[in-house]
Amino acid sequence: MNLAETAAWTKLRTHRGDLRETRLRELFDREPGHGPAMTIEHSGLVLDYSKNLLTAETLDLLIELADERELGTGIRAMFTGEAINTTEQRPALHTALRAPAARSIEVGGRNVVTDIRTVLDRMSAFAERVRSGQWRGATGAPIRAVVNIGIGGSDLGPAMAYQALREFASETLDVRFVANIDGHDISRTLHHLDPATTLFVVSSKTFTTIETLTNARTAREWLLAALDEPAAIARHFVAVSTNAREVAAFGIDPANMFEFWDWVGGRYSLHSAIGLSLMLAIGPDNFRGMLAGAHSIDEHFRTAPPRQNIPILLGLIGVWYRNFWHAHTHAVLPYDQRLSRLPAYLQQLDMESNGKSVDHQGNPIGYDTAPIVWGEPGTNGQHAFYQLLHQGTTTVPADFIGVLRPRHDLTEHHDLLMANLFAQTEALAFGSADDTGPLRGHRDFRGNRPSNTLLLRHLTPYTLGQLIAVYEHKIFTQGWIWGINSFDQWGVELGKVLATKIYAELTTDQPSAHDSSTTALVNRYRHARK
Ligand code: F6P
Repeated sequence: MNLAETAAWTKLRTHRGDLRETRLRELFDREPGHGPAMTIEHSGLVLDYSKNLLTAETLDLLIELADERELGTGIRAMFTGEAINTTEQRPALHTALRAPAARSIEVGGRNVVTDIRTVLDRMSAFAERVRSGQWRGATGAPIRAVVNIGIGGSDLGPAMAYQALREFASETLDVRFVANIDGHDISRTLHHLDPATTLFVVSSKTFTTIETLTNARTAREWLLAALDEPAAIARHFVAVSTNAREVAAFGIDPANMFEFWDWVGGRYSLHSAIGLSLMLAIGPDNFRGMLAGAHSIDEHFRTAPPRQNIPILLGLIGVWYRNFWHAHTHAVLPYDQRLSRLPAYLQQLDMESNGKSVDHQGNPIGYDTAPIVWGEPGTNGQHAFYQLLHQGTTTVPADFIGVLRPRHDLTEHHDLLMANLFAQTEALAFGSADDTGPLRGHRDFRGNRPSNTLLLRHLTPYTLGQLIAVYEHKIFTQGWIWGINSFDQWGVELGKVLATKIYAELTTDQPSAHDSSTTALVNRYRHARK
């Protein structure tokens, strides 16, 4: 049945109308314990969702919607490896990557947990050798720098997690990430690095991505220009991929390849071998800690009732704003500089997963799906775009993320940081009226702007794993309710095809044949290029 024809959807629409005049202030005044009543906790992770424009009845109706859409069936299907990625006929089994070794999850009659653990052990052994200096470069020198070459899911996850967990990283390894095909990225990254002590981790699920292969070729030339010995490749290049054939074709010994599988989506791959650069930085034990944190949320998502289930609640609240309040965007505002890349990571996770407008059969759907996800760390954002959050004409639901205990002893900084986080959610929710002075109107904060607050006790590999899994499952919840395939990404294909065609036009004398705008732009570049 079409989502918009379900009974719960119709009731939610009516209910939304009933809430038109409701103010957050009223909800809090009506129930003195409103905040704690709408706060849940799982294994140290706290979600306060009380500052949302919803009541107990809203939650009942959203859960009714999830039931009508058989969310429980969807969760079971994902965890047991059904081919829920219907256009590619594959499971989406990132949860298996962090399942305990004793668990058995079968794909095509094979227990994938065994394969996962084998690769994890290989990664760990390799990471130990590099970190301890046993693994040597071609000149016999130990590795001092690791450069991850990858893009999208093969970059954002490890790069985000490395920023988040720098305090856990080895001080003797300089870990860098190159993604962009823009030559400034790789040339700046390689600047001041010594080829004799640099290890490249070429990360690509398909090993056909033009950005990654171009950067990898440039890195290879840079290395060979200095070491002048093709055998050096084996000491300085490893690959992470599902595609052994292309890895070998590139010239990397398949013995130096760390495998993952087509049932791990690129944007869901941080916990697979795609995390190798991160593991090199933080070490195998910390990496396994991250897997354990993600697994704790997997179990929570799979078993907790909806009202106690952090990802389900976040997913349902998101549906409420997107489909019934028509909020176009969703802000992610980590009050922690270490999480500065989290918004970018979640952009891919959410927008590439749920930025869809057809159902599993390819038929257009008549309702909104993924919001635009964006954000910056607080307090920086406060001095940039929060003006719009407070007084703009559009409502932007936001997730505020805070960490109770920092890993520094600058207490004043942390107290001020957290004071700002709490103050912002309060100001957004309740506002304040100044209708007397000459700046009447201008100084009026109407409030009623919704937010969630997520609190972590510490930022560790374990809690980072939790946070990542919370968002993965939030996004799954929404995609399942919307009846779309959250695990394909056909929308990225056309641009790649056209770029290949235009590249040929830029680099040869082929005439450019496009619309008048594109042709003029191409010709202008061709002229400049001469
Ligand atoms: O173009 C989009 C995309 O396919 C993402 O889904 C993926 O994470 C990224 O490119 C990189 O792909 P690969 O890991 O195959 O190089």
